[in-house]
Amino acid sequence: MVIWFASGNEHKRVELAAILPEAELRIPEDAGIDFAPEEDGETFLDNALLKARALYRIVSEPVLADDSGLCVDALGGRPGVRSARYGEECGRLLDAVERNALLLRELGAERNRAARFVCAMALIAGEHRFFAVQETLEGEILREQRGSGGFGYDPLLYLPAQGRTVAELPAQLKNRLSHRAKAARALRKLIIK
Ligand code: IMP
Repeated sequence: MVIWFASGNEHKRVELAAILPEAELRIPEDAGIDFAPEEDGETFLDNALLKARALYRIVSEPVLADDSGLCVDALGGRPGVRSARYGEECGRLLDAVERNALLLRELGAERNRAARFVCAMALIAGEHRFFAVQETLEGEILREQRGSGGFGYDPLLYLPAQGRTVAELPAQLKNRLSHRAKAARALRKLIIK
């Protein structure tokens, strides 16, 4: 079964391939497709669906897409769908360490540190057929960055059950616990009979 993955992220493709061994995963780059749709949806699911639909229109075969980010309760769910662009207002895209520092400043001494990574995943199976799921990885925002693994906001999100931040987890464990892995496993149950 060929499934296209509407992403340029090779790291995500490897993660997904381990969870969906039945699928032959292809990304736009494999076919020389220049794919960079505007991710201007209001929700993670909007963005996952718009990416999947955009690639489906080109390849006419099943397409999977995801969209993810960090939602912090005390910030009203921000940075949310704008996680990759958080802090952009400063005039340029910040790197991950700067972005994390900005989030810590914005949260200040706030006592409610509850936050989660969220991942929406959608599979367009045909013109009028799609499956969609959304999963989370729940944690708390620390008062400083900790750990050097992973990427993005990983050094900020502490997982009480693991006693570590996501950036302190071995890669294989993160790939089992993550919002993306949970969403991919849930989607697999829907599509593999
Ligand atoms: P996208 O789904 O690849 O567009 O991810 C959007 C942004 O959310 C990334 O640039 C990261 O800042 C953040 N993000 C998503 N997943 C993770 C994760 O597993 N760890 C850390 N940051 C993440």
